[in-house]
Amino acid sequence: MSRSIRSPYHEALVPQPSNDLFLRACRRGPTERTPVWFMRQAGRYQREYQALRKRFGILEICRTPELATQVTLLPVRQLGVDAAILFSDIVVPIAAMGIDVRIEEGRGPLVDEPLRTSSDVGRLRPLEPERDVPFVLEAVRMSVRELNVPLIGFAGAPFTLASYLVEGGPSRTFTRTKALMFEDPAAWRNLMQRLGAAVLAYARAQVEAGASAVQVFDSWVGALGPEDYREQVLPFVRPIFEGLAGLGVPLIHFGVGTSELLELMRDAGADVVGVDWRIPLDRARERLGPGVAVQGNLDPAVLLAPWDVLERRVRDVLLRAGDRPGHVFNLGHGVLPETAPGTLRRVTELVHEASARQRVEAP
Ligand code: CP3
Repeated sequence: MSRSIRSPYHEALVPQPSNDLFLRACRRGPTERTPVWFMRQAGRYQREYQALRKRFGILEICRTPELATQVTLLPVRQLGVDAAILFSDIVVPIAAMGIDVRIEEGRGPLVDEPLRTSSDVGRLRPLEPERDVPFVLEAVRMSVRELNVPLIGFAGAPFTLASYLVEGGPSRTFTRTKALMFEDPAAWRNLMQRLGAAVLAYARAQVEAGASAVQVFDSWVGALGPEDYREQVLPFVRPIFEGLAGLGVPLIHFGVGTSELLELMRDAGADVVGVDWRIPLDRARERLGPGVAVQGNLDPAVLLAPWDVLERRVRDVLLRAGDRPGHVFNLGHGVLPETAPGTLRRVTELVHEASARQRVEAP
């Protein structure tokens, strides 16, 4: 018998997707095949997206519900994936909190006046989603009406958002972010608390608008060792998942380079932990234990390999995921712009076919 942990509240208020494979896998329920979606499944590898970007800036697309919806739906139709992710960016709520931020092509988010002191942190206004980002909530409502698969809402996690705010842009070493953390613990706590509260409000509003799941992207938290993660990050992430738990939608927690942080990330409270390719999936499942599902973890660069190599690697991920329910197939990070759209479609079909067969052949 299947048991749903979805809240009746959510079910009654928003249209439900007909393909619920992804939601069942997130809840570690049995599925007839492994669900697939790809981080950055909407983006520059698509001709249609490139054409749209010639006419509109990325933040303009994010702030125009019709355009954001169009881009959200595109990969679902093209690839046959089992979930959609809202087209937006992690800096959209940051901009709505009073920070001047732009996205430079090929580089990422840039903040001209970074937050470096306690008084700088005060520039970050509290986020009220209905007032500050109504266009995001409208894009969620519009997308959900068109989709037959679940829509994943998302937010950046406090550390990853803080890294852009403090560094002023992308970084390899996160020197200034770590310096603030160690030199001015009160300012760090203040920053992380403000971001945590905003992430919680933002994710909750997306669920109330109809998102069927939430992914929190802590893309750059792998820059920290376990001790600093436990002391400087975990206390600010846990309340986010606690605050969202009552909504009854699956919660996903993703980071890159987090092999040594997996148990701590699990303890933050999500239902699904996303892992990159630096750890074999069987090893990740061993570390995480039976209480959470996993999402991942094909190296996105392998999508550029000849088909026989790619096929072998996709099958390897499925074998390592094993027969235990609770695996969502994905990449270990986002789709690279060099990827051929046809390859993503072929991988989706392969995962569907091979995982269905694996179920039948399991002892
Ligand atoms: O399909 C999807 O995954 C949804 C769209 C999405 C975008 N950004 C659109 C986007 C999502 C989920 C994000 C999240 C995001 N943004 C993260 C976390 C996920 C991750 O990849 O680690 C981070 C760290 C950011 C910050 C950011 N925004 C970066 C690093 C970049 C890339 C810079 C570049 O040009 O390579 C962006 C820009 C951005 N956000 C693009 C897209 C499709 C690039 C294309 C463009 O400029 O139009």
